[in-house]
Amino acid sequence: MVMSANKTYTVDNIEFWGQIYQTGKLPWDLGGPAPPLKTFLKSPYKVPPASIAIPGCGTGHDCLLFANHGFQVTGIDFAPLAIQATHQKFIDAGIAGTSGFLLQRNLFDLDEYDGYFDYVLEHAMFNSIEPTRRRSYVHAVYDLLKPGGKLIALWWVLDRPGGPPFGIAKDALFSLFGQFFSFDIVHTPTDSAPGRQGHELFTLMTKK
Ligand SMILES: C[S@@+](CC[C@H](N)C(=O)[O-])C[C@H]1O[C@@H](n2cnc3c(N)ncnc32)[C@H](O)[C@@H]1O
Repeated sequence: MVMSANKTYTVDNIEFWGQIYQTGKLPWDLGGPAPPLKTFLKSPYKVPPASIAIPGCGTGHDCLLFANHGFQVTGIDFAPLAIQATHQKFIDAGIAGTSGFLLQRNLFDLDEYDGYFDYVLEHAMFNSIEPTRRRSYVHAVYDLLKPGGKLIALWWVLDRPGGPPFGIAKDALFSLFGQFFSFDIVHTPTDSAPGRQGHELFTLMTKK
């Protein structure tokens, strides 16, 4: 919760995230792409490059990683400073408007992009929303995907009260997504960033 001029913002408010970005202190930001995602893109299980949406893209490290592997990336975030930081990365890499695109939007309000993307990447966005919105999250990413599209995800699986980040137990993850997605790959990364070892789960799912 963030308080400002008698207003209290919760994680589902753009103001909550906007104010965190204004402090410049981003405890989740790894300063580079998540190692398990780099490993996935070098593995025999990697998926062929195509269009990918990255909701809650933050400062864009994972966007750049996937763009560098040939994907057509659309970073989505409702925080202006997150979009600015990702845009700067796209400009520096010479891919802004060619393979790097951005939407400064709320993930839960993207109806016009239904069925638009081959892939969605989940990394630390699901854990940022109130657990009561999880079913809406499943519907939102399901709707963004083309038929047979895939959800590539790195989850925070710690089951503990409070957040953000709001953890989720493995079983809860399976029952939440299982109705709408089939699980192709499930594994515990061995190369998680310091402080995240043993708390992450990598999954690759296909839209049913
Ligand atoms: C914990 S950060 C993770 C950023 C990035 N994925 C990473 O791992 O570095 C969560 C991000 O999700 C964004 N976010 C949260 N709720 C959102 C929503 N409903 N729509 C769009 N972006 C959202 C926040 O602004 C923030 O940039």
